[in-house]
Formats: sequence, structure tokens, C-alpha cells
Amino acid sequence: MDLARSVNEMRQWRRVARRSPLALFPTMGALHEGHFSLARQAREDSELVAVSIFVNPLQFGPAEDLASYPRDLDRDLELLEPLGVDVVFAPQPADFTPPQRRTTVHVAGLTDRLEGASRPGHFDGVTTIVTKLFSIVQPDTAYFSRKDFQQLVVVQAMVRDLDLPVRIVECDFVRDHDGLALSSRNANLSTQERRRALALSAALSAAVTSWDGDADVARARLVEALAAGPGVELDYAEIADPDTLEPLHGIHRGPAQALIAAWVGSTRLIDNARLPAVASATVT
Ligand code: PAJ
Repeated sequence: MDLARSVNEMRQWRRVARRSPLALFPTMGALHEGHFSLARQAREDSELVAVSIFVNPLQFGPAEDLASYPRDLDRDLELLEPLGVDVVFAPQPADFTPPQRRTTVHVAGLTDRLEGASRPGHFDGVTTIVTKLFSIVQPDTAYFSRKDFQQLVVVQAMVRDLDLPVRIVECDFVRDHDGLALSSRNANLSTQERRRALALSAALSAAVTSWDGDADVARARLVEALAAGPGVELDYAEIADPDTLEPLHGIHRGPAQALIAAWVGSTRLIDNARLPAVASATVT
């Protein structure tokens, strides 16, 4: 497994390997089983696999957890080695996001709501860095999971709008045995907080089980379930169109996406679930 620590090293690696199809799997490190599931899928699909590890300062707000975001490159490299990854691109912030940069990639509309409303500028940071990664690594395919559902939708829109020569591969996400969605931020939860965090996945699975096509009822159930969880402070709970992310109201025939964000102590967690199409729903 090769390690590229600068833009030049990564470009050089890609020049040498330019004839082989390459899958890229972008991450911010602190890798866990969820990340590995994407790496394994990329490994199965593609001749070469690149993983990027970069805690992207552009996607953190001034009051957010950039400083406390877990980082351990040596551990991440050790864990990636047995997965058959060919190259790890782990650029240094000074090289990758120099202060004099002036250009931002902005996807309009889709980024205003949900995570975008709570974290202004977040998605500009994501799309700008992902565009840079695509430009440097030049992958044929790039792997993103539904864990960050809005991010996936935004990146897909960006690739479509800009005709970027990358196919986005949409992946499932991994939960722990008790339902908690794996996330690098889980490392910051105390034992008690981790227990409390189960309210998120529990609320979503209740919403899936009781889903009858009424978006307002489903939203109210989510809010109620999360309000009942001790030590959990709801940021948002939304039932949205999976393609446009517009909030849904009333009876809805097609599939919908339930998305939630909540604070557990000082850690902000997000989770989501698909609410399937309801054949018998009465459309108003
Ligand atoms: P990060 O949070 O490290 O996530 C990297 C990728 O792993 C994303 O596609 C994310 O959706 C996926 N992932 C996270 N938790 C997962 C889980 N439990 N199961 C499966 N996949 C999971 O998302 C980012 O980094 C950044 O925004 C990035 C795209 C790298 C841009 O900086």
C-alpha cells in the first residue's frame, strides 16, 4: 500500500497507474467498520483502490468540533493495509487547503435545508474538497454511503451538473449490533451518552415500522420519540423527498426519507432511514 502525503505525490502515483480503473473512497479518517465496508466494496469492483484521509477544515463551522475530531493516521493505515487498498492519499492541510484559496464549489438549493440549515457552509466545504479530490486522484468511481444521505444527494447533483467524469457508487451503511449507526464521532461519546444515542436509531426504526404514508404523522412520531430520550437534544427530524430533500406533508405514495440530527452531550449525531413506498396510501 502506497502513501501519498502531498498533491504532487498523488498526481505522480495516478500518472503511473493511469491505464487502470481506480475507485476512490473519500474519508476523514478515524476509520471504522462502516468505512471498511465501503473499502471492501470498492476492492471487489475495481482494479485499483484509493482511500483519501483528510479532516477537511472547510466543512467545519467556527464553533464546530474540528479540533476534537478524532485523528490517528498510523492506526488508520494499519487497518487499511489488510483490505488491499493500493494508495492512501493523506494530504497536509497547508498543502491541500492553503489560506489563499479563493474558489468554492456550491450546489444550490439542496444544501439549504437539514444539515445545511444547521451547519451553514458545511456542504460548500464538502463539495469543494470532493471536487479537489476528484481532480487530483482522477478516479473512475467514487464510493459514498447513505449514512450521510444529504451529502450523497448533493455530491450526485454536483457530478451531474458539472459533468464530472466519475461514477458515484451509493453504498449501504453499517450499524452496531444495538442499532447505533457507526460514526467516527461515536468515539467522543461516554458510555452513558452512547446508551442515550440509541434513541436516534430506535426512533427511526419505530418510524419505519409504523410508516403508513402519512409524512406529518411520521415526523411527529420521530420528534416525540426523540423528545422522550433523556440527554438527547433534537436538532431536526424531517420526512423528505429522497431526490429533492424537500419536506413532505400529508399522505405520500412514493418512498420517503426520514432524517434526524440530535445532540448527545457535546456530540452531534445524524441518522436516517428509507420509508418505503406505500401501495395502499390514499393520495390527497
Ligand atoms: P467521513 O465521515 O469519514 O465518511 C466517509 C464515508 O464513509 C462517507 O461516504 C460516509 O457516508 C461513509 N460512512 C460513514 N459512516 C458509515 C457507516 N456507518 N457505514 C458505512 N459508511 C459510512 O463523509 C465524510 O467523511 C466527508 O464529508 C468527506 C466525504 C470525506 C469529505 O470531506
